[in-house]
Amino acid sequence: MPIAFENVSHTYSAGTPYEYQALRNINLEITEGKMTAIIGQTGSGKSTLVQHLNALLLPDAGIVHILDRDIKAGEKAKKLKALRGEVGLVFQFPEYQLFEETIIKDVAFGPKNFGCNEEEATKRAKEALKLAGMDESYFEKSPLELSGGQKRRVAIAGILAMDPKVLVLDEPTAGLDPAGTASMMALFSKLNKEMHKTVLMVTHDMENVYTYCDDVVVLEKGQVKLHGTAREFFSDPKKCRELNILPPYIVRMKEMLNEKGFDIPESVVNMKELADYIAKEVK
Ligand SMILES: Nc1ncnc2c1ncn2[C@@H]1O[C@H](COP(=O)(O)OP(=O)(O)O)[C@@H](O)[C@H]1O
Ligand SMILES: [Mg+2]
Repeated sequence: MPIAFENVSHTYSAGTPYEYQALRNINLEITEGKMTAIIGQTGSGKSTLVQHLNALLLPDAGIVHILDRDIKAGEKAKKLKALRGEVGLVFQFPEYQLFEETIIKDVAFGPKNFGCNEEEATKRAKEALKLAGMDESYFEKSPLELSGGQKRRVAIAGILAMDPKVLVLDEPTAGLDPAGTASMMALFSKLNKEMHKTVLMVTHDMENVYTYCDDVVVLEKGQVKLHGTAREFFSDPKKCRELNILPPYIVRMKEMLNEKGFDIPESVVNMKELADYIAKEVK
């Protein structure tokens, strides 16, 4: 079942002095089962693009193919609730959307809304919270008692409790400390690699893209400038810079060493391998 954009455009505030075309004729097919990064400068249309995947925004031209349905410009989108159960969208700073008095109730809200009885909803909520890395001792606490990173985990658990096929994350690690970022990325990687969810992630963190993502989509001014594998994209640091993307540290390091006469092989992809290679060369 495809996840694809076919000639999709989106204009905000059409017909007003604030009219702005945020997406311009997007053609893009996301590979299912992969972890894809959506990158590009602020204002390039990343959030607008991903909000089309669960029909939070509708195209004003073109078609969005998402799982077994087509969302066409000018047509009323049907069965939205079911779609939103299958395509879980996590906003940037979802922790501000926690509103129930306990964590478990907050996470059980979604499944209940989708028709689960209390018992089943609570069971799903517990599983989702554990998966998101929240210990049982927190379940009856108020969301207000949590740290920022924990709140975000609870918010993500709220989406996982609906067991979506596709997980769309808009800047999921923004504002987290390095340890929080690493454990969040490990969670998304597990959801993708072990639980076979298709993951789409908007991010500015190229280190994460390099380490965890299979594919990369670069947006610029509402258009797709590049779509390919992360490995291929980052193997061409000049191309990255042309697209205003600063390559990850390891790529920049290899680039500098090569300028100084080394010939670091493509297969070197992390600091340890780089250190081993250089140590061998200079000995
Ligand atoms: N509700 C809105 N009304 C008008 N313009 C908007 C609205 N939301 C976003 N935009 C504009 O659309 C463009 C793309 O925004 P967005 O998709 O949020 O970009 P990104 O997520 O890449 O930073 C920006 O120029 C932004 O100012
Ligand atoms: Mg955004």
